[in-house]
Amino acid sequence: MARQIVITGGKGGVGKTTCCAYLGYFLARLGARVVMLDVDIGLNNLDVVVGIDNLINYDIVDIVCGKCRVRQALIQHPKNPLLYILPSSHCLNVGKVHTDDLKKIIMELSSTFDYILIDCPAGIGAEFYRAVYLASEAIIITTPSITAIRDADKTAELICGCGINSLNLIINRVRTDLIAKHLMLKPQDIASSLNLTLLGTITESDALTAQSAISGNLFEIQDKSILQFENIAKNIHLGIVSNTRKQQLFSFIKRRKQNV
Ligand SMILES: Nc1ncnc2c1ncn2[C@@H]1O[C@H](COP(=O)(O)OP(=O)(O)OP(=O)(O)O)[C@@H](O)[C@H]1O
Ligand SMILES: [Mg+2]
Repeated sequence: MARQIVITGGKGGVGKTTCCAYLGYFLARLGARVVMLDVDIGLNNLDVVVGIDNLINYDIVDIVCGKCRVRQALIQHPKNPLLYILPSSHCLNVGKVHTDDLKKIIMELSSTFDYILIDCPAGIGAEFYRAVYLASEAIIITTPSITAIRDADKTAELICGCGINSLNLIINRVRTDLIAKHLMLKPQDIASSLNLTLLGTITESDALTAQSAISGNLFEIQDKSILQFENIAKNIHLGIVSNTRKQQLFSFIKRRKQNV
């Protein structure tokens, strides 16, 4: 039975897709059979960042419409035979894909894979819930900005009511130079404010910024920030994950209000 992990965070652009791609990549490098699924249907981009956008024949909407079977749509990554992507669709008719359709697909994938990583869209609308209800574990991605942390806080609270039994945090785009000058919150302080277990941090990387501007394919990068994803993947694989957040409604927002 696969571990079904949703990568979410509320705020747009915090690095959910980037984290999903690298975690999948490194979990597969550890010998696990991994499938990644982008449920940002219509605005998906996981296929581009893992460099398989030219290999797509069928996508999720084709499966749901009965044009192909799940196995026909799966794409084996050219760099690792244990890593698969189930392509999402650029089709804007997202109403065609319902949670039950996706659940059936996840059930089928569960018997073949060790991990199903679900890349969640930004926001807390219907598409967020559609993604979260597919998973039993969640990883919240935030950056050290107050707005992203606040959105992560709300997301964590909403997730608690969705049957998720493990909830963890990754803080992306951390800058140690700014932390040293007290111009950025420390990752550990952010994690305690959010009352979440910190799986790891990823530093701000010029290589990542440049690559997303040039080709988009993240797996072409050689950069030390990438090793941080590898360490987080090891922690996940070893099962170093927390139980759900202790019930503490909107902890970050409350604390900030108390401090004012
Ligand atoms: N650690 C980092 N250093 C520099 N750039 C980064 C880092 N992490 C992500 N990025 C860049 O930030 C941008 C947004 O990342 P990404 O698409 O993964 O975010 P997202 O949360 O999935 O966005 P969306 O909400 O639109 O789905 C991308 O251009 C990506 O390359
Ligand atoms: Mg994304």
